[in-house]
Amino acid sequence: MVKKDIQIPLTDLITSLSDVIDLVNPALVNHHQMVAYAAYNIAAHMGLPAKQRNELVLAGKLHDIGALASKERAKTMQFELSNPQRHAEMGWLLLRGFEPLSGVAELIRFHHVRCDAGETGITVSPDVMVGSHILHLADRVAVLLRKTVNPLAQQKRICRQIVEQSGGMFLPQVVKAFLKLAEKEYFWLDLCAPSLGSFLTRRITLETIELDLNGLLALSNIFAKIIDFRCPFTATHSSGVAASAAALARLAGCSERECEMMKVAGFFHDLGKLAVPAEILEKPGRLSPRQQEIVRCHPFYTYRTLERIDDLSTINSWCSFHHESLDGTGYPFRLTQRSLPLGSRIMSVADVFTAITEDRPYREGMSADRAFAVLDEMVANAALDGNVVNLLASNFDEINSVRIAAQGVTVNEYRDLQHQLVGYA
Ligand SMILES: [Fe+2]
Ligand SMILES: [Fe+2]
Ligand SMILES: [Fe+2]
Repeated sequence: MVKKDIQIPLTDLITSLSDVIDLVNPALVNHHQMVAYAAYNIAAHMGLPAKQRNELVLAGKLHDIGALASKERAKTMQFELSNPQRHAEMGWLLLRGFEPLSGVAELIRFHHVRCDAGETGITVSPDVMVGSHILHLADRVAVLLRKTVNPLAQQKRICRQIVEQSGGMFLPQVVKAFLKLAEKEYFWLDLCAPSLGSFLTRRITLETIELDLNGLLALSNIFAKIIDFRCPFTATHSSGVAASAAALARLAGCSERECEMMKVAGFFHDLGKLAVPAEILEKPGRLSPRQQEIVRCHPFYTYRTLERIDDLSTINSWCSFHHESLDGTGYPFRLTQRSLPLGSRIMSVADVFTAITEDRPYREGMSADRAFAVLDEMVANAALDGNVVNLLASNFDEINSVRIAAQGVTVNEYRDLQHQLVGYA
């Protein structure tokens, strides 16, 4: 039984989530942290109030969540971008419904808008403008910095490139504040320090919002979309897993609160897939052994990411062990029956059940008979818990319709989002 109320510091959770997004490509390591650090310091040099500085840190940590494919992500790392607005718009669309991050969402929406507005003609409302320009400049500084060269040897070159774009790409007052900051060696050394993330946490005390279970549910739902919308084949997978895991938990006698936690676990279970290039996720045929190895890392990253948040330990154990087997042959921890809680056994069943019954563009979902042939074989091989599979078998119609309904809602959200992005190449 889980009793204690959940209280999750939003900033800590965002930091962990942002780090996992940067795992996708070695060139991106610490990118979100660097932008958060630079944006915060420019804002401090401009004398902006704490609330705005806080929002800039969070916006820095999340600003590229709309660049979901690695190709798109790599594109954001070029100094001059041909069409950056799509990922900025996508980031905004994903976050805007979550009240605690609504201001952050606005900053992200405009983080590539030029000072001269270029040919796009996008107008930024005055209350967001300075912040979005700070984010823009911070992002471009992070992009210009080469990780293999001493940062102090790059100081002059980067300042020159920024000054050349004052009034063009960048707002002059932001450039002015940046140049003051850029005189100081510590700024450049911090920016390139491998420990920047932990340093940021220690040095910058943000007034933090605590998320309760409802807030956590809303944020994990957004993250399920960030994970799944990268690949049209599995765009609704986590929502199906969350709904069927919660329905199974209810039938297993769990409390309402535990069922909600199970939903959160379902939304987060494939979080580590953010570290898997979308090109691999989208590959319709068989994966090569090397590609399989990359995919097999994902529950490990889910675990290590959520482990950093104290109040998520139960949810983490439910979601990160979904590829473990009762006989210890699963991955990545090779846990055995004794160490696998009921929640994680439910998650494993919900994951396989959803994966084989959901329709995908290249194949239809399995019928109940075929699905149970697969599930029963997995029980016989000690991969899944037979009691949980029996529970699913005796309530198949109910759980299956809960899954279909949840995935139906998400597919509509996916289509809406795609629709709103038409016109952004
Ligand atoms: Fe960006
Ligand atoms: Fe960026
Ligand atoms: Fe998985």
